[in-house]
Amino acid sequence: MADNEAGDQTNDWSAIEALPKRKLEELFASDPERLSRFSLDVAGMHFDWSKTHLTTEAVTAFEALSHKRDLAGRRDKMFAGDHINVTEDRPVEHTAERYEGAPESVARAKKYHERMRTLIDAIEAGALGEIRYVLHTGIGGSALGPNLLVDSLGRGADRYEVAIVSNVDGMAMEDVFKQFDPHTTLLVVASKTFTTTETMLNADTVVQWMQEAGVDDPYGRVVALTASPEKAIEWGVDETRVLPFGEGVGGRYSLWSSIGFPAAIKLGWAAFEELLEGAAEMDRHFRLTALHESAPALAAFADLYYTQVRRAETRATFAYDERLKLLPPYLQQLEMESNGKGVTVSGRWLTRPSTAITWGGVGTDAQHAVFQLLHQGTHLVPVEFVAVIEAGDDLNPEHHKQLLLNAFAQGAALMKGKHVDDPARSYTGDRPTSTILLDQLDPHTLGALIAFYEHRVFVAGTLLEINSFDQFGVELGKEMAKAASKGGQEFDPSTTDLIKRAGLE
Ligand code: F6P
Repeated sequence: MADNEAGDQTNDWSAIEALPKRKLEELFASDPERLSRFSLDVAGMHFDWSKTHLTTEAVTAFEALSHKRDLAGRRDKMFAGDHINVTEDRPVEHTAERYEGAPESVARAKKYHERMRTLIDAIEAGALGEIRYVLHTGIGGSALGPNLLVDSLGRGADRYEVAIVSNVDGMAMEDVFKQFDPHTTLLVVASKTFTTTETMLNADTVVQWMQEAGVDDPYGRVVALTASPEKAIEWGVDETRVLPFGEGVGGRYSLWSSIGFPAAIKLGWAAFEELLEGAAEMDRHFRLTALHESAPALAAFADLYYTQVRRAETRATFAYDERLKLLPPYLQQLEMESNGKGVTVSGRWLTRPSTAITWGGVGTDAQHAVFQLLHQGTHLVPVEFVAVIEAGDDLNPEHHKQLLLNAFAQGAALMKGKHVDDPARSYTGDRPTSTILLDQLDPHTLGALIAFYEHRVFVAGTLLEINSFDQFGVELGKEMAKAASKGGQEFDPSTTDLIKRAGLE
């Protein structure tokens, strides 16, 4: 990446910052083509950024910055398997998991997927005895992605009952123990590193639960999903039940790999392949489309416009569909662990704000809880609505109609505002929203949607000169927690007091 003369990133943004700041309604009034200019259709989804402050001039300026950052070159390097994760000296291989990437990475992903499929077939054929329950334990990317997939697509799929336990809080596991039968449970241990304290403790606890219930060979009913197969074997999983994936697949990008096992076993292999194909369609769109027509690029440009120019500190995604209620927490890890950094890829301090804080929720519930702040609060919060045209329920169609109309009305209200004499009852309006409208929620579209978010993060990271693929920021807290549990460690007076009060000395 090119350094600018000032040695920071400020100058590169001056063209974007200097653009006139016009109101949304003016932008619509001055350009009859605005809607078509700022909306597009990809992979069964309609994207609409017309109610953001993006303008043609802004997109052109972002394209120029993308050129300066060699976005296209960096994108091609990612797909070619170059080591663009420079701090860890690794390739970035999650696209290879959907067969878009360097030939050797794709070949390895295919081989590993075949291994996963064979094991699922064997489990279905009864090779591990009767299995009705799948208890998956993992955390972060080893839980959020699979959880999103199973929750979004698993309604009505009654092949297995799946629970995903991430928290080390024993209550989370205890709740599942109350529902599952240890004699017909398959334990799935998901950890890229196979060293994560929470996951390993949870896995030990499940084995113990099986042992105490008199299960003959609990380790015989464990499947490991990991990029560290030797550690899984050392822990006690037979090599035949270890499903590996490559080191180049980052945790928060890993649901396409064996980490997607709970979704594949719950939904069936055909659905899992559809998910991969949907993501691959988005990969091809991202690889082959000019930036001003690229969904991930336009979304990232809007994100950057608000964080860098309007200094928005957060952005919110509201899923107007119960099936997507786990999308906001999934996006929190994807976006904040990827681009919540303070240094550039070349090790200089970042002189710009890094990514926005991602938050959100489910509509219409959120309208009755947090939308007050969105309509009248002093923070600027770009809002994204995600909705699905085809209803997921069989009840009175009025439900789905109300759901969608509410989403659309909120966007209209945030833009239009309302001006009355009483300030308490006035709405400033001009508040930006974007909408992603899916034709239907199926594996293909969900795969494409998730891949869209991944590439959007990549574009934003590249323009900010951030390496989106490491996460050193999580290490210090882990080290301190380990030191605390070992005991004998000197902490500050407050921490020492808390440890003492909780009786943990
Ligand atoms: O601590 C953060 C993190 O490393 C995430 O990046 C990752 O998704 C999660 O922990 C779980 O890690 P692992 O899959 O190695 O258990």
